[in-house]
Amino acid sequence: MNETIAFTPLTAADREPIARLLHRALVHWYESRLGQGARFGDSPDPFTLFPEVYEALDPGECVTARTDSGEIVGVCFSHERETHVSVGIVATSPDAGGRGIAKKMMSLVLEKAKRLGKPARLVSSLLNLDSFSLYTRLGFVPGAIFQDLLITVPESGMAVAAPAGIEHVREAVLADATRIADFEHSQQGIRREKDFAFFIRNEVGAWRVLVSEIGGDVNGFLAMSVHPSFTMIGPGVAADEGIAIALLWKALDGLRGKTLVFLAPCAASTLVRTAYAWGARNVELHVGQSTGPVAVAKGIVFPTFMPETA
Ligand SMILES: CC(C)(COP(=O)(O)OP(=O)(O)OC[C@H]1O[C@@H](n2cnc3c(N)ncnc32)[C@H](O)[C@@H]1OP(=O)(O)O)[C@@H](O)C(=O)NCCC(=O)NCCS
Repeated sequence: MNETIAFTPLTAADREPIARLLHRALVHWYESRLGQGARFGDSPDPFTLFPEVYEALDPGECVTARTDSGEIVGVCFSHERETHVSVGIVATSPDAGGRGIAKKMMSLVLEKAKRLGKPARLVSSLLNLDSFSLYTRLGFVPGAIFQDLLITVPESGMAVAAPAGIEHVREAVLADATRIADFEHSQQGIRREKDFAFFIRNEVGAWRVLVSEIGGDVNGFLAMSVHPSFTMIGPGVAADEGIAIALLWKALDGLRGKTLVFLAPCAASTLVRTAYAWGARNVELHVGQSTGPVAVAKGIVFPTFMPETA
């Protein structure tokens, strides 16, 4: 392939080609390296939700790579938040791999972050050393490690009794978005109120947001995508493991009959052991990475991939 590659923003018309690219790149990489292509299913259709959600949340912020003939051969999901620039899935078509396309897309995002004076953050797979190296070569520094836990919720709901603290958990309303964002900032040093308002408005995709509150103070929240194309718990932050367990139990109990993945910090050993007791199995590992220092890092974090959390 000797064509010139143009790097341009993602548009609403790109949904289907992007979905095909994402599906093909992920199946190809995970099948050829790990024999695990099947985990991404046999249809690109569910992946149309990714460009749809990113475009609704932050139009024009994601980068695509296009050949002279207009074929999309790369995509890098990204958006600016109040405190940082987030990077989501990066994918290059298998036929166009190894030509610096992912590196160029990432460099454009990093240039933007530099212009804005903000760090860039992402969560990268520890099984995928191609992407891990791509990021660390570009200056990202690994931080917290997360376990990807796969769990099936019984049709009749959680088989174990609700944990302590469940009485403080409720569904979030739009007025909570600011308080949730302030709470995350106090724990993690990052702020992204727009995302929480987007989830709670629930107009594109399908979302649910739980909040834990004691005496008028938010001490945890847990958002989740409940769309049939992509069911995943996160993003969320809890002040401690007890609150994290209560939020997680409530989230899972609402996802009856579903099999899904959630990420939990490896360091949160009580949370991880509780998840094992509920039937969770390890399926992958991820690591948070940043190009700049994180001011504060407290609490228990539940990252996600759509829209990405870091
Ligand atoms: C990961 C992926 C995006 C890389 O795309 P690509 O366009 O082939 O990557 P590039 O050609 O830009 O090269 C990536 C850089 O990482 C480097 N790299 C790759 N593997 C490496 C390793 N094991 N050690 C050190 N460096 C490595 C390459 O040398 C290159 O850096 P350089 O140009 O400075 O030499 C692509 O393989 C892909 O789409 N995979 C499937 C989707 C996926 O898993 N995405 C990431 C998780 S969301």
